[in-house]
Amino acid sequence: MVQSSPSQLQVFLDIATEAALCAGAVLQTHWGKLENIREKGRPGDLVTEADKAAEGAVLEVLRRHVPDHSILAEESGQFDNAQSNYLWAIDPLDGTTNYAHQYPFFAVSIGLLIDGVPQVGVVFDPIHNQLFRAAKGLGATCNRQPIRVSQTADLEKSLLVTGFAYDRRQTFDTNYREFCHLTHLTQGVRRDGAAALDLAYVACGHLDGYWERGLSTWDIAAGIVLVEEAGGKVTAYDRTPFDLASGRILATNGHLHNALSHELMTMKSP
Ligand code: IPD
Ligand code: CA
Ligand code: CA
Repeated sequence: MVQSSPSQLQVFLDIATEAALCAGAVLQTHWGKLENIREKGRPGDLVTEADKAAEGAVLEVLRRHVPDHSILAEESGQFDNAQSNYLWAIDPLDGTTNYAHQYPFFAVSIGLLIDGVPQVGVVFDPIHNQLFRAAKGLGATCNRQPIRVSQTADLEKSLLVTGFAYDRRQTFDTNYREFCHLTHLTQGVRRDGAAALDLAYVACGHLDGYWERGLSTWDIAAGIVLVEEAGGKVTAYDRTPFDLASGRILATNGHLHNALSHELMTMKSP
């Protein structure tokens, strides 16, 4: 187990920022000019030349600064250094479907796990030029200004967000029922199509809570740090400690956590 000092975490945060800004510039370059959009395997799971070029930009920065760290990158897989306690989880373009349709809601997401725990997170939305950053114990910011989760304490007054995984045509666990149920109980449930930005929006209080299943480590590692450092809470649906491998997350402003967990756990069939 390694203990990283605040100054070490700050160094990693700055490396993640450099990488996210480089990848964001690549995404800006390809925006609206895609020539190669294809499905990766499951229907609707797209990859483009922008995903790959942005990932290349992130990898170049990480290999220059931290060549001995392990890397988990969505498009090129895992590069392991068995000796390292550090794992960078990279989603070079979270929201590829949005990006391919020129729907301006997508981001670069870079998280650093230390001994398996997300401790540094950067999410960069290059279209709106919003840079979300956080590191354990150092707080969370957007464009260098501190951010906090919302104060909403009633589900009836809340605005939530969720998503639907690419395996939705092959599973009964689609999340459609949960979506309908919570749409009835709240002021609305958004489906914006970029998990990393969904979490960033919970962190800065635009949204009050988020739940989703079928997620990968690269989708949420950075956003988890943002929400926690902005004063929110992240657990499994049943409020047990969060497990990255489960792909299932409940992230809220804290005030709504018990109520939202209760609805997800006790929901009856329609
Ligand atoms: C997807 C987005 C989406 C979520 C999917 C993810 P991608 O990531 O985050 O919001 O619902 O489960 O896979 O494929 O755009 O990087
Ligand atoms: Ca993603
Ligand atoms: Ca992606």
